[in-house]
Amino acid sequence: MDKRKILIQLDSDPQPSVFDRVVAIDAGADEVFSYGGVKPEQVQALVHGAIFTRGPDDLKRTAFFVGGSDVAASEKLLAELTKHMLPQFGLRVSVLFDANGANTTAAAAVRVASKHIDLSTAKCLVLGGTGPVGQRVALLLARQGGEVRVGSRQQNRAAAVCDSIRAKVASAKLEPATNGSSAELQAALTGRTLIFAAGAAGAVLFPRSARSACPSLKVAIDLNAVPPLGIEGVEAGDKGKERDGIIGYGALGVGGTKMKIHKAAVARLFETNDHVMDAEEVYSLAAAF
Ligand SMILES: NC(=O)c1ccc[n+]([C@@H]2O[C@H](COP(=O)([O-])OP(=O)(O)OC[C@H]3O[C@@H](n4cnc5c(N)ncnc54)[C@H](OP(=O)(O)O)[C@@H]3O)[C@@H](O)[C@H]2O)c1
Repeated sequence: MDKRKILIQLDSDPQPSVFDRVVAIDAGADEVFSYGGVKPEQVQALVHGAIFTRGPDDLKRTAFFVGGSDVAASEKLLAELTKHMLPQFGLRVSVLFDANGANTTAAAAVRVASKHIDLSTAKCLVLGGTGPVGQRVALLLARQGGEVRVGSRQQNRAAAVCDSIRAKVASAKLEPATNGSSAELQAALTGRTLIFAAGAAGAVLFPRSARSACPSLKVAIDLNAVPPLGIEGVEAGDKGKERDGIIGYGALGVGGTKMKIHKAAVARLFETNDHVMDAEEVYSLAAAF
């Protein structure tokens, strides 16, 4: 008989996310072992518990999920996880990283955009491009070949994101842009066909008054579901809705695709024991949705 599928949830928050636990069960995990407030120095023992218990043929039925609202703290857990696997002996289990929903949200946002515009030629602007979601959106867009402007209120922060993406995608067409003042935003908007607003909850990044600076715009995707919304004129529930000649998605409109990707990613964990699923691996599943 097949062994039960165990998902080991490591959360950097003191209380492990209920959302992530529910999705894990709905995606096919038989058991979810949840650990909260996990610190990097605790990860090695957790990895050993996972890789030394079952035989090599059954290791694909154990996997890790890394979550938590502090994405940077959770990234340290991911680094520790991969460090302590022993692939040279076949002793490893698959890992999905989706702290604060950043990977599944970014993958869903780029996927829905791809239904309306050719990403290999799109001229993109990612407002809020320095946050965990925005950075991942920019990475995925850069990988598709389009031009990507990374927006921030601070030039050096946007430039740092561009540098980190270039380290992964040497051919990336990237440029940093500032969007702190309305004049800066107008310059950032010039010539763009695809815009994402991935700013903090409740921050308006693309006001209606700036629309005239971007007559080339075709698709606008807002990931902020907390009023006031990130793009004025795109409603939270919009899902490919055309308004004033522009296709728009709001955060809730992207949410259905995000959930499908999240479940598919958890299911993928139990296929083999060697997946490390970060933004690009998660996006590779998105084409089905
Ligand atoms: N639907 C979902 O499941 C889901 C999941 C995750 C996230 N989200 C949403 O996706 C969005 C992005 O998430 P995140 O965690 O990446 O966001 P975040 O880290 O909170 O913020 C992203 C960026 O927004 C900019 N920003 C912050 N406050 C601002 C302000 N008052 N005005 C203008 N810009 C401001 C900052 O960039 P600079 O300082 O560089 O300008 C920051 O790096 C959020 O709205 C979040 O709620 C949705």
